Amino acid sequence: MDFLADELEDLCKKGLYRQMAPVDSTQGARFVIGGRECLILSSNNYLGLTHHPEVMRAAKAAVDEWGTGSGGSRLTTGNYGLHGKLEQEIASFKGTEGAIVFGSGYAANIGVIQALVGTGDLVLSDRLNHASIIDGCRMSRAELGVYSHRDMDQLEKLLIESQSYRRRLIVTDGVFSMDGDLAPLPDIVCLAERHQAFVMVDDAHATGVYGRRGAGTADYFGLEARIQVQMGTLSKALGSAGAYVAGSARLIDYLVNRARSFIFSTAPAPAAVGAALAALRVLREQPEIRESLWTNAGFLRKGLKSMGYHVPEEDSPIIPIMVGDNHSTMKLAGALLEEGVYAPGIRPPTVPRGTGRIRVTVMSAHTREDLDRALGAFARAGRRAGVI
Ligand SMILES: Cc1ncc(COP(=O)(O)O)c(C=O)c1O
Repeated sequence: MDFLADELEDLCKKGLYRQMAPVDSTQGARFVIGGRECLILSSNNYLGLTHHPEVMRAAKAAVDEWGTGSGGSRLTTGNYGLHGKLEQEIASFKGTEGAIVFGSGYAANIGVIQALVGTGDLVLSDRLNHASIIDGCRMSRAELGVYSHRDMDQLEKLLIESQSYRRRLIVTDGVFSMDGDLAPLPDIVCLAERHQAFVMVDDAHATGVYGRRGAGTADYFGLEARIQVQMGTLSKALGSAGAYVAGSARLIDYLVNRARSFIFSTAPAPAAVGAALAALRVLREQPEIRESLWTNAGFLRKGLKSMGYHVPEEDSPIIPIMVGDNHSTMKLAGALLEEGVYAPGIRPPTVPRGTGRIRVTVMSAHTREDLDRALGAFARAGRRAGVI
């Protein structure tokens, strides 16, 4: 298997080689790498709930009551009362008839898309959709129409030209994971209704963050009743692991019968389910956690912009610092790490070629002192890497 060494060397030459940072311990907003404490500015743990005492307590209580694993697929041995309880809570949080949980967001996206469309159908997908959506589209065997990022004219054109397909699904990230911008959902929903297509939104980065109740982009835009498939993760702002799909009772029944990544995969572990249940309660009862996320996001974005970084004009806890080429991106990430800030470089294929960036994410758990320290580090690292 000589090709392994050749291909790895090729990745190095292109600045695309990836390595995992060995984290020794974490306290939510900071972790220790190689004995050194670093501020985390890259986590999707937006609300810091992985370390919220009530969420941690609930995870431990779920282990005491249900054990460490669920032992099988929900359709065989793993369907515990805890899973049903979480699905009821998610449905009420999302304002839908039902919900179904999956082991991960990746599993949810591939399972749902494959279940809903196949040969003879068409999926229309935003060019910047997450890899799990892209893989779900490929695996479904439906035809794929990719429209330019948030380009509603192109989406409409594709809908007009594709009337003969059996089913047409429009699928989009609600909040784009690498850019932090929102999908134009009101326009997407209007186009879908006009052209008899249906809509799936991936709220991985919106769940717990966007909307009046933190219930995601449908909540944010007031479109709860007009989006047929609402997917989201439990692994980001909710501080747990796994994912959900919320929608009509019939959709949920259909997915139980047709989503292969649900049918042929072990049910989520009790600790993750217990943690997600507690996270939903904390979200409802402690709105100040979400408020501090947005305050921190505004403060950090303004600070980064004012020192000359190229940061898009969005209001989002995801703040991409656009660099461009892979080597400069990694140089900046390395300089930040030397300054005690962990914010890794993001390169193709995660983002389009030539758009390498540092994807900064802010958390409620960051204090003003943390953010001041981060800005100081960005100023010094940016100058050293020649980015500002
Ligand atoms: C938009 C989007 N969808 C889906 C996923 C996959 O979720 P998970 O990490 O739970 O597999 C992610 C996470 O990386 C994501 O950013």
